[in-house]
Amino acid sequence: MKILGIETSCDETSVALVEDGHVVLSNLIASQVRIHARFGGVVPEVASRAHLQQLLPMVDECLSRHDMSLAEVDALAVTRGPGLVGALLVGVETAKALAWATRKPLIPVHHIAAHLYAPFLKGDPSASQTTMMGNSPTDQSVHAAHAAADIPAPHTSGPTPDPLTYPYMGLVVSGGHTSLIHVHSPLRHTVLAETVDDAAGEAFDKTAKLLELGYPGGPLVSARARGGDRARFKLPRPMLAGSGIQFSFSGLKTAVGKIIREVGLETIRADEEMLRDLCASFEEAVVETLLRKAHRALRQTGVRQLAVVGGVASNQRLREAATEYLPGHQAIFPPPIFCTDNAAMIAGLAYHHHETSADTADLTMNARADLPIT
Ligand code: KG4
Ligand code: ZN
Repeated sequence: MKILGIETSCDETSVALVEDGHVVLSNLIASQVRIHARFGGVVPEVASRAHLQQLLPMVDECLSRHDMSLAEVDALAVTRGPGLVGALLVGVETAKALAWATRKPLIPVHHIAAHLYAPFLKGDPSASQTTMMGNSPTDQSVHAAHAAADIPAPHTSGPTPDPLTYPYMGLVVSGGHTSLIHVHSPLRHTVLAETVDDAAGEAFDKTAKLLELGYPGGPLVSARARGGDRARFKLPRPMLAGSGIQFSFSGLKTAVGKIIREVGLETIRADEEMLRDLCASFEEAVVETLLRKAHRALRQTGVRQLAVVGGVASNQRLREAATEYLPGHQAIFPPPIFCTDNAAMIAGLAYHHHETSADTADLTMNARADLPIT
C-alpha cells in the first residue's frame, strides 16, 4: 500500500511516498531555514506563503520520480496538528482538495505521534532529499546537504541492539516540544511529562541568539561545542533534584545570559576556546538533563527502550551520551533526516490509521494548532 504524505506544520515543506508504513520510496524536504534566519526565528506568515509556493510542485516531483500519477496512490496523509495554524492549513487544504479530486481516502496525522514513529522508517537514504529555500539567486534551487553519504545509519546505544518494540518510552525533543511519552502502540500514547517553559530546541536557539551565532541554534551551538570542555562553566541541571520528570529550560538560557553579561560578549567571541567551552557546557547541561529524566521515566515505568525523536535528536553529543546516562537501557535514534520535520513519518504512521480503523477525514476536517495526542 502506497501513501502520499504531506507535512507543513512549521518551516519545512515535505512530501513523501511510503510503502506499507515502513519503506520510504521518496522523502522530499524544502527547508525554509535560510528564509527565516534573517529574522532570527520562524515568521508564521512567511512560512505559510513558502509552503503555498512549494507544495504542489513537490507533490508533482515526488510522483514523477516513480512514474506515478495521483490515481495510483492508495491514500493521502497530512499533518493536522500541532503546529503553526496558517502553515498547517496549507497542507490540510491542499490534501483535502487532492483527496476530493481523486476520490482517495484522506488520513489526518498527529505530528508528534509521527515523530515517535520515525524509528520504524526504512529505505534507501538517497530517497530523502533536502532543498534549501532562500532568496539569494544562488539559493533558489540548491539541492544540498543530505546526499546519501551524509546520512548516518540509525544510532543505537545500550547493551542489546534489539529492534524497537512496543511499548517504549519516547523522548520528543524539538523546537516546540520536550516531552516524555509512553508509546503503547503506533496510535496509543500517554504523555508523562512536558516542559513547563522552553523546549530543548528553543533553549539551543535562544542561546545561539544570545551568543550571536545565528539560526537555527541547535546545529550551530553543537558545531561550536565540538572538542570543548563540558565542565568549564557550571550551568544548572534544571529541575533535576527530586524524582520529577517535568522539564524546564528557560533558567539555563538565563544562566548563559548571566555569564555573557559578566564576561562580556565581545570577550567571549574573541576567545575561541572560551566560546567552545561555553557551548560545550551548555550542550552538556541540556543533554544530561534530558537523559537523566528519561532514565527516571524508564525506571518508573519499567520500560526498557527509549526512542529519541525530533530535531534535537540529531545532536551528536546526545547520541553519544545516551550510553553513559542510561545504564541498563537502550536508546534508539532515527537517522537525522527522519529526526527533523519530514513527510515520511506522516505517511508511515498513516498506514497504521488505515490498517486499524476507518480513520479517514471528510472535507470538514480542520487543522488544529494545539491538537492533543491520544
Ligand atoms: O523537529 P524540528 O525540525 O522542528 C520542530 O520544532 O518541530 O526541530 C527543530 C529544532 C530547532 O530548535 C533546532 O535548533 C534543533 O531542533 N536542532 C538541534 C540540532 N539540529 C536541530 N538541536 C541540537 N543539536 C542539533 N544538532
Ligand atoms: Zn516536528
